[in-house]
Amino acid sequence: MNITIVGTGYVGLVTGACFSEWGHNVMCVDNDQRKVDMLHRMEMPIYEDGLEALVRRNVEAGRLHFSNSIKEGTAFAEVIFIAVGTPPGYRGAANLSYVEQVGREVAENMDGYRLLVEKSTVPVNTGEQLKRTMSKYMKADIPFDIASNPEFLKEGTAIEDAFDPDRIVVGVESERAAQLMREIYEPIIQKTNCAFLVMNIASAELTKHASNSFLATKISFINAVSRVCELTGANVEQVAQGMGLDRRIGPKFLNAGVGYGGSCFPKDVDAFVQIADNLGYDFELLKTVQRVNKTQREHVMQMIQRELWVVQDKEVAILGLAFKPGTDDIRESPSLYFVPQLIEAGAKLRLWDPVAEQNFAERFPDQRYTKTPMEALEGADLLLVLTEWPEVKALEPEAMKKVMRCPVVVDGRNVFDPKVMHDQGFSYTSIGRPGIAV
Ligand code: UDX
Repeated sequence: MNITIVGTGYVGLVTGACFSEWGHNVMCVDNDQRKVDMLHRMEMPIYEDGLEALVRRNVEAGRLHFSNSIKEGTAFAEVIFIAVGTPPGYRGAANLSYVEQVGREVAENMDGYRLLVEKSTVPVNTGEQLKRTMSKYMKADIPFDIASNPEFLKEGTAIEDAFDPDRIVVGVESERAAQLMREIYEPIIQKTNCAFLVMNIASAELTKHASNSFLATKISFINAVSRVCELTGANVEQVAQGMGLDRRIGPKFLNAGVGYGGSCFPKDVDAFVQIADNLGYDFELLKTVQRVNKTQREHVMQMIQRELWVVQDKEVAILGLAFKPGTDDIRESPSLYFVPQLIEAGAKLRLWDPVAEQNFAERFPDQRYTKTPMEALEGADLLLVLTEWPEVKALEPEAMKKVMRCPVVVDGRNVFDPKVMHDQGFSYTSIGRPGIAV
């Protein structure tokens, strides 16, 4: 089947590459000529584990193509996915101008039936708006359908997730659209036997916001529990384990830390609060989730201040700039909160990240970046851990202590064992865990 994907960001490129791997003919369209040129040279505009090999294989097999033209994309396929950005706009609501633009251009260029699928995360009822836009801009009365097919891919494991989905959610209004969507996903349904849920468009749109907001709630919940743990001597990891073994709760997304970041959770929770507000419902629960996430960072900043007393001129090593391991993405990363705060307080920073350094250096070009985590630690008065990269987990406390000026660690991701750190003579603060593990 021929499929066009508009947008070659994390969602669009991964989705397009996976569809082509399943045997479909895919055209990925982006209006950013630089990205299209890079893809033609087999350079990936984003870092995602396994993506380059997947793209290369399918381009060589003649199943994956790139273009800068929506017109060409509209001619290429009956089904067109919209995977363009929906950045936060006015008062946290998603900016839908790119989505609208794709709808308009498809409408102006289509010469027969088309199914336009929302893949980007959009507010509930965007499908309705897209339908109106299509009707308005179409040159003749041509039949079309709108569908919603939210993505649940996690950065860093996006390809794995696409090949082994928990479920596929599809919102449609016609049998024809449902059939086409089923045909696209048939190879993976056959292989994994995953659930294929067909519902109305508004329900599919809401499923995405509700899922991400629920996961963010789980994180804020465990972070709030970690605060109580710190006040009582309880260990949040043990509490999370005790909770997570209840199958109704489940063990995932119960890691306490510096709070959630990334391109999805902060934006989606903001947008969901805003959508509810606009509809006349005050989603207080999610407002608290946002507040807990914000105060968690402030709380870790206080830990740093307590340890250093005077921050001015202190050498602070920061390990991890990406919002989580396995990605070069720094959008809404906790590092974007801590680095400016520490610079303003007069600290001298040494920053390390295995893949996000370049993205970060574009925003903070004057900072010192190191090649290895150990190099960042040399002469440091304090280590702040912000991303649980395997290279950080693998550090030997004994070796760390030798190179640091003061053995002080604020561990925002609970990567080290408190007892080992204590035995090595570190002043070690982590999230929701007593100094010495029980
Ligand atoms: C998320 C959703 O998981 C995915 O389904 C959706 O399609 C896009 O948004 P992603 O943003 O890639 O995926 O990251 P995810 O792995 O969910 O982590 C989000 C943030 O939560 C990260 O900052 C991570 O460090 C944090 N997190 C996650 C915690 O602090 N604790 C946890 O237990 C889990």
